[in-house]
Amino acid sequence: MEMAHTHPERDPIEAKVAEIYGDVARPREPVRSPSLAVKVLEREFRLIVDERIVALTYAAFMNGRPVLFEGPPGTGKTEVGEALLELWAGRKPFLLPCSENYDEYKVIGDFHPLIAMRKGFNEESFIPRPLLAALILDAGVLVDEIRRSSEDFQNMLLDVVDKRRIIVPELKRVFRARGPGFQVIFTSNPEDIAQNELSDAFLRRVVRIPFDYPPREVEARIIRLRSDSEPRLDSNVMNLILGTLEKLRRSGLSHKPGTAEAVAWARMAQALARLRGRSVVSLEDAYDAAMGVLVKRVEDEEIVDSVLREEFGLA
Ligand SMILES: Nc1ncnc2c1ncn2[C@@H]1O[C@H](COP(=O)(O)OP(=O)(O)OP(=O)(O)O)[C@@H](O)[C@H]1O
Ligand SMILES: [Mg+2]
Repeated sequence: MEMAHTHPERDPIEAKVAEIYGDVARPREPVRSPSLAVKVLEREFRLIVDERIVALTYAAFMNGRPVLFEGPPGTGKTEVGEALLELWAGRKPFLLPCSENYDEYKVIGDFHPLIAMRKGFNEESFIPRPLLAALILDAGVLVDEIRRSSEDFQNMLLDVVDKRRIIVPELKRVFRARGPGFQVIFTSNPEDIAQNELSDAFLRRVVRIPFDYPPREVEARIIRLRSDSEPRLDSNVMNLILGTLEKLRRSGLSHKPGTAEAVAWARMAQALARLRGRSVVSLEDAYDAAMGVLVKRVEDEEIVDSVLREEFGLA
């Protein structure tokens, strides 16, 4: 069934993939050493990642197994996943944000209805989609929020990862992965309501890597890395931010703040300080910035307010 294609530029599907996706998958030098990757992640991606997470992810790739990053919102799953796929493959990965109605036509390919009507279901009317493009370009795929997809879709993805090939029956073609760059990272947030359970078959095949809120010192480093040097966040304000977040994460909030909120809070406080003509973020700036960033639901208002007052000594 498979055709021999020695010159990529002569294959119509590969030409289409290059034309549509070539730009988004610009090559770079792969970084396959975990210790070096940790440095590049900090310098280039402004991400602080535990070397064990990098090593485990790379080990899974070497074993041909997909990875599942699982943990609460705002803990870096998506950004770390994208960055690691890029460093491993030496190309930017494709991002598939999942939803209920995602299917193989949306990720492997479909047919242009008008062209198909005139010319039939063939290579001319075929539109390659991201999963097939990733396989052909030897790039990684980040499948975001996998619990939002159907079980059929999950099984289809696992089959592709397992066999490292994609069959398009209408074209009577099999596309095979060319190198080690085609890898898949799934992300999932088990606490999110109204989401599907992951099947046993799925969990058996993936390497699951849990994500969690970082330790205090690491979160402080992340905030420094992601905020401006001016107006300055002194250690007093920094400790109040970190302490408040810790308390809120242990509380009964419906939307617990992640590191994403830690960064957003610090940056909002800095912006307020700047508007108020201050060179150092004051307690007032930090307090004023908090509610807007930390409260996502009306029902959380009271808890956030009381924790803030307590931590800021206003109770
Ligand atoms: N390890 C980290 N290093 C640097 N920044 C981080 C890290 N973890 C989280 N962040 C901050 O959190 C933001 C959001 O991260 P990301 O979207 O990847 O989280 P997520 O776990 O995918 O969240 P969600 O479950 O809501 O999709 C980043 O833009 C960054 O500001
Ligand atoms: Mg995410």
